[in-house]
Amino acid sequence: MFMVRCLVDNNTLDAARFRTEHGVSFTIETPTGQILFDTGQSGDVLVHNTAQLDLDLRQIDALVLSHAHYDHTGGLEAFLQKSRPGLPLYAHPDLFRERYATKDGQTRSIGLQMARIDLAKHATLNLSAEPAQVLPGVWTTGEITTRTEFEGRSSHHFILGNGWQPDPYRDDMALVLEALSGLIVVCGCCHAGLLNTLMHVQRIFDKKIIAIVGGTHLANLDVNTLEHTITILRAISAWDMPYLFLNHCTGERALAALAQAFGKKVKSCPAGTVLRFD
Ligand SMILES: [Fe+2]
Ligand SMILES: [Fe+2]
Repeated sequence: MFMVRCLVDNNTLDAARFRTEHGVSFTIETPTGQILFDTGQSGDVLVHNTAQLDLDLRQIDALVLSHAHYDHTGGLEAFLQKSRPGLPLYAHPDLFRERYATKDGQTRSIGLQMARIDLAKHATLNLSAEPAQVLPGVWTTGEITTRTEFEGRSSHHFILGNGWQPDPYRDDMALVLEALSGLIVVCGCCHAGLLNTLMHVQRIFDKKIIAIVGGTHLANLDVNTLEHTITILRAISAWDMPYLFLNHCTGERALAALAQAFGKKVKSCPAGTVLRFD
């Protein structure tokens, strides 16, 4: 049995109990331990909402970072102040690459704000582009190497290589939970593309996907691309559409379009949401 709790999201289930911010964080409770997936943006929201769910960050056994962006890694320092010294941290080796965003002619750094040397003082770094087992039945996807579909990208995200280049988001990974009933894919921002991520998971794990949870970065898609995404999602799922518990960068318009296409299989997943999978 896996229990997935949404600690941080742009929206909340209960504004009296949970705080919100642009960012995402989940805990995944498994029979053998508890995982934190991403840390949200500020750390304050993570710490506040964790307490509201009666969870203790000292009980986390492993941390996984979906990618470097500040809205997923900004709470890292606050988390590490409370977590067990030396806990394992799983991420892609490209996590430490500088990331930039441009807006109104200004360029700002939006990547990980903690130096590798400081991070290594608090956590045991497990950096791999290959799928890695975090706990029994829980894997990172590894790098999403085949990217034939186009959703997930933002035209204002850049890296500095040989001049400014569009961010290839090589570090973007999701988490895969192997439940008895099938696979649950937990996404951070899905910059590698939702469809690319799902096809990668199907290829590597060769089991039915029963649920997709998290941010899917469909917010900026034009109507035609969104329609294409829905068509392919239906095709790769055959007659057995997974449940979609979506939040963060999915966007209201995409959520509404998916709900129209897939009915009750589509739900929002704001902070405070608790999901159980057998
Ligand atoms: Fe992101
Ligand atoms: Fe994000």
